[in-house]
Amino acid sequence: MHNSIFITGGTTGIGLEIAKLYLDEGKRVGLCGRNLEKLPEGVTELYPKLQTYECDVTDKEKLALAINDFGKEGLDLVLANAGISVDAKTDIPDFNNGRKVIEINVLGVLNTFEPAIDIMLKNKSGHIAAVSSVAGFVGLPGASFYCASKAAVTTLCESYSADLKKYGIAVTCICPGFIRTPLTDKNSHGMPFLMNSDVGARKIKRALENKLKLFIFPWQTKMLITFLNKIPRFLYRIIIELPFLNYTK
Ligand SMILES: NC(=O)c1ccc[n+]([C@@H]2O[C@H](COP(=O)([O-])OP(=O)(O)OC[C@H]3O[C@@H](n4cnc5c(N)ncnc54)[C@H](OP(=O)(O)O)[C@@H]3O)[C@@H](O)[C@H]2O)c1
Repeated sequence: MHNSIFITGGTTGIGLEIAKLYLDEGKRVGLCGRNLEKLPEGVTELYPKLQTYECDVTDKEKLALAINDFGKEGLDLVLANAGISVDAKTDIPDFNNGRKVIEINVLGVLNTFEPAIDIMLKNKSGHIAAVSSVAGFVGLPGASFYCASKAAVTTLCESYSADLKKYGIAVTCICPGFIRTPLTDKNSHGMPFLMNSDVGARKIKRALENKLKLFIFPWQTKMLITFLNKIPRFLYRIIIELPFLNYTK
């Protein structure tokens, strides 16, 4: 049962929608983001059980302080959701932008899990989860850093799941396809099976409640990505080099 939930990157998008679902049920929710002004007006007054922390997930010390502060009254679930995508898809890697993606999407998850696991080890129970992506299963053109960051998150979760079970800590890795949020609003390319964020949040919450180890959705994207992931790599390369699939143009 999740009564105290801490979510990173909860000021907009998926994180905010999930936070609202738990708050509507009367649960305690802690959320962080770099800019709390992005939160919808009146949300803190509407939900007295919401604790907000202005904090960048790359700031390891500040994030640990926030999680420890929230955890004083219990910590059942930590969702490492904060993440960014590449600004623009490019053929020539933009290493400065790429470093930012890796720092936030990968190191941000480690910075979230470290203090959470410390608390949960003492409690001998808890649940850690991360929002990865279907993009972590294959190398997509123009999105090298994002794909690499999400592949790292997915495999980290897989290892943690095996390692932490004996300490009473459950691990869930969430791999969504396209969800309508500020992150995807800036995409100019087609987004098959795009889902509204409230629908996506409800699906993610159900997966968390069921403590699924890996949740890939929607099913159409799951089938597509599983196919692309399993076929011989030479065939995959032929498919992604098809001119009409070139997202960087
Ligand atoms: N939308 C999709 O289609 C999709 C698909 C697969 C996976 N995902 C993943 O889902 C997660 C949430 O994305 P979203 O679509 O909901 O995007 P979003 O609306 O842009 O939300 C991202 C959240 O992360 C926060 N954030 C970003 N960088 C941060 C940092 N350095 N420190 C703390 N907070 C930070 C943002 O708040 P501030 O700007 O206030 O910091 C915001 O609250 C991401 O990990 C993303 O990769 C999204």
